[in-house]
Amino acid sequence: MNIKITPKVTWVGKIDFELRKFHGDQITTQRGSSYNSYLIQDDKNILIDAVYTPFADEFIENLKKIIELEKIDYIIVNHSEPDHSGAIGKLMEYIPNAPIYCTASGAKALKGQYHKDWNFVVVKNGDTLSVGNDEIIFIEAPMMHWPDTMMCYLKNEKILFSNDVFGQHFAEASMIDDLVDECALFFEAEKYFANIISPFSKKAAKKISEIENLKLELNLICPAHGVIWRKNIPKILQLYKKWTNFELENQITIVYDSMYGNTRKIAEAITRGIINAGNGIKFALHNISKSDGSDIITDIFRSKGVIVGSSAINNGILNSIAGILEEISNLDPTNKKAAAFGSYGWSPKAIDGIGEKLKSAGYVVELPVFKVQWSPNDEQLAKAEEFGKEFALSLL
Ligand code: FEO
Repeated sequence: MNIKITPKVTWVGKIDFELRKFHGDQITTQRGSSYNSYLIQDDKNILIDAVYTPFADEFIENLKKIIELEKIDYIIVNHSEPDHSGAIGKLMEYIPNAPIYCTASGAKALKGQYHKDWNFVVVKNGDTLSVGNDEIIFIEAPMMHWPDTMMCYLKNEKILFSNDVFGQHFAEASMIDDLVDECALFFEAEKYFANIISPFSKKAAKKISEIENLKLELNLICPAHGVIWRKNIPKILQLYKKWTNFELENQITIVYDSMYGNTRKIAEAITRGIINAGNGIKFALHNISKSDGSDIITDIFRSKGVIVGSSAINNGILNSIAGILEEISNLDPTNKKAAAFGSYGWSPKAIDGIGEKLKSAGYVVELPVFKVQWSPNDEQLAKAEEFGKEFALSLL
């Protein structure tokens, strides 16, 4: 399938409607995804990015339907991760001398992954490439979300090819933002940002403001995943400013796991306390063994407050909670407060460790860890409610 975006630009990617996991099994993609590749046909023919390795043959056959491969003059690799560069190797079998435009870091990463000495042309921020009647401007965007990440802007057509930035894991045949369910689209855009780009928010903030200062006119933003932004360009730019500037929601996310229901009872009591605190504070309550892990990360990302709880097991905590503590240690904790709780049988040490881990990850932890030995009684549950209320009020 190819989709004409403008008279000179065609989408030549792959929509994977079946995809449910990404980055191995790390991220969930409940609405599938797409690998977006774009072909510019002018005096010069330029391919921007490719598709994931398993779709390489399909990609090549599809591409052949609209261009003789030998007529592709240049390839731009905005980002070397295999979901975009995986099919480049197959393409290079047909056009081994085609120049590949990428950043210095991109060339290193491509060599490291594919062990080929292709014709790399290293570009820097602001470099240009003539297309004939139009011009491409390269915009380096390191750590959005790999060191090699780059975007490029097609000047006369006013199109920003943004690679992962502004992407969504969202498989939609129409491929345009105003033709899809916008509620689902913005949910997926935020989930994508939270799980993929947010660890590097501070660098992303600088780049977003730099792009703003360039005052590029934008008819379209064409990301490398999901649908193309046409109608909602101002809104997605505004959201990226909000997200990269840590403007968090008045929300608390409680994440727990529970062996025999004792930690669950404490989690629910803490949640009642948050509700009692009022003041418009929302909550999201997740049993990590039942909820979608990437949705939990999205909730944590948007929340001012995070409360993590586990049962003790042997000398440690449940592995599900250990896993998410590791994951949220890699998120940027700016403007976030956190607290910890749990139930134990004979040693509270591991439950204390949750608070220590949150603190060492940069979260502001003010309240002592809330611990209950064995099963909580009514009095302890009332204290857990107070704990939740106090935490909620501390966010105001
Ligand atoms: Fe979609 Fe970072 O690759």
